[in-house]
Amino acid sequence: MAAIDATLAAQNAVVAAESLGLGTVYIGALRNKPQEVAQILKLPPHVVAVFGLCVGYADPNVNVAIKPRLPQSVVLHRETYQLSEQDEGISLYNQVMKDFYESQQMNVPGDWAEHSSKRVASAESLSGRQQLRQILNNLGFELR
Ligand SMILES: Cc1cc2nc3c(=O)[nH]c(=O)nc-3n(C[C@H](O)[C@H](O)[C@H](O)COP(=O)(O)O)c2cc1C
Repeated sequence: MAAIDATLAAQNAVVAAESLGLGTVYIGALRNKPQEVAQILKLPPHVVAVFGLCVGYADPNVNVAIKPRLPQSVVLHRETYQLSEQDEGISLYNQVMKDFYESQQMNVPGDWAEHSSKRVASAESLSGRQQLRQILNNLGFELR
């Protein structure tokens, strides 16, 4: 529940910051090394950083673009989950993301769906997060 509350609060902070002309970047990568992060932040027992949030003014000289979002048919479902809408929307997004990666000169192998599923396909691909349960135990959370 606390993780959800922190996330909701952060999203409101992001909206407020952006309304003031600031830029923000969530840093989920903090969860790759929660124990080291807890040490750096001098967190007391039973406290863990859920994510980081960078706030600042974007460099106007850097050429940036808004990352395309999944089509609404993939992420918005009315009353019940509409599985039938998924394939077409994801194929479309694969193409959109291919163009986006090219425009950003990002070398991403495979299409977006393949690339994204590989990120969570095995323990080795979790960038250390497969140890999260043990690390939370170490930080004082007695998960069973
Ligand atoms: C939950 C979450 C975690 C994220 N973690 C990272 C991160 O670890 N490192 C990073 O550079 N960006 C991170 N981001 C930022 C994304 O890269 C960024 O939101 C995405 O590129 C879209 O950017 P845009 O909204 O400016 O187009 C994260 C975003 C979200 C929503």
